[in-house]
Amino acid sequence: MTLADLGDTPEHRRALYELNKECAADIPERGEFYSFDEYVERRFEVASYDPRGVVIALDGEAWVGMAATSRHESFMFNEMTGVRAGYRGRGISIAMKTFGMAFIEECGASRVRTFHHPANASAIAMNRKMGFVDTVD
Ligand SMILES: CC(C)(COP(=O)(O)OP(=O)(O)OC[C@H]1O[C@@H](n2cnc3c(N)ncnc32)[C@H](O)[C@@H]1OP(=O)(O)O)[C@@H](O)C(=O)NCCC(=O)NCCS
Repeated sequence: MTLADLGDTPEHRRALYELNKECAADIPERGEFYSFDEYVERRFEVASYDPRGVVIALDGEAWVGMAATSRHESFMFNEMTGVRAGYRGRGISIAMKTFGMAFIEECGASRVRTFHHPANASAIAMNRKMGFVDTVD
């Protein structure tokens, strides 16, 4: 489901923060994660944020994965994708990112961008599987 479907409420924003924080701990050299206030400022209180672009994978009521896409002038940006450790390797990231393409289509965008740490092998393989190709710009 998307955050728009679930409700863009303060409780859900906090749950997204916790999920993002937990998954981001496995990104090479990520360092200390944002405080909740910083996260709100950088991820929600920006013009590129749209709750329709935030896909949440659910196991019953439990939030087990997220894939966020934001909207920019000439492209869409695949931001954080994360799956809780116990749920990895089951195709959940590909399912979330594919589901998220509906929002991208709704926006009429023709280009999706993303980036990852060069040592993040699982993220690189995930994005290659999604069809991303390298660019130099
Ligand atoms: C990257 C991440 C989201 C992948 O989630 P996932 O649900 O386990 O991935 P999937 O099961 O959908 O796998 C998709 C593809 O990614 C690749 N992949 C996934 N895990 C991998 C691993 N440990 N090593 C190498 N490739 C891997 C594979 O190509 C896989 O496709 P395949 O199984 O058909 O070969 C997850 O490992 C994660 O949350 N990591 C920590 C957070 C992070 O680094 N996020 C990306 C930064 S933007």
